[in-house]
Amino acid sequence: MPSTQKSKSGGSRSSGSKSTTKKTTPNDAIKLLEADHRQVEKWFKEYEATNGEKTKTKLVEQICTALKVHTQIEEEIFYPVSREFLDSEGEEMVDEAVVEHASAKNLIAEIEGMEVGDELFDAKVKVLSELIEHHVEEEEKEYFPETRKTQMDLEAVGAQMKARKEELMAQMTRVNGQMVQ
Ligand SMILES: [Fe+2]
Ligand SMILES: [Fe+2]
Repeated sequence: MPSTQKSKSGGSRSSGSKSTTKKTTPNDAIKLLEADHRQVEKWFKEYEATNGEKTKTKLVEQICTALKVHTQIEEEIFYPVSREFLDSEGEEMVDEAVVEHASAKNLIAEIEGMEVGDELFDAKVKVLSELIEHHVEEEEKEYFPETRKTQMDLEAVGAQMKARKEELMAQMTRVNGQMVQ
């Protein structure tokens, strides 16, 4: 069956050195997502380094909220838009990413139903960090670079994600009973 709408980027397999044909911008969608990744990684590291119950509780709340918002903006905006520009192999990466999100979300829900000090709490946080580490690596090493080679408007998508992220953060922090600002 013909699938003519997709603008594929086939051919130019620039590996490494001078792959940036497009300039990145302040709202570059991939940069925004990668910044979220770095933030969550930092919190996971801090979690491992502390024994303080209060610190752990706060970090886990921050991690879970950030991951829920991040996976949601990816699934609502970045993933579906990028699908339109990727070939079938690229679309498989998006499918896998969605499945990995589902595993992460299940684990997050379990963690949110528990308290620091509960049996298996640390183990669940550790497994979540490993799952996210693996997922982030696939996004950053395979999926995002493929997407950057396409004609997708990363600036426009980034601006849209930024706005949606603010909205969701406000909603989620209200739900958690925390002060938003
Ligand atoms: Fe991500
Ligand atoms: Fe993701």
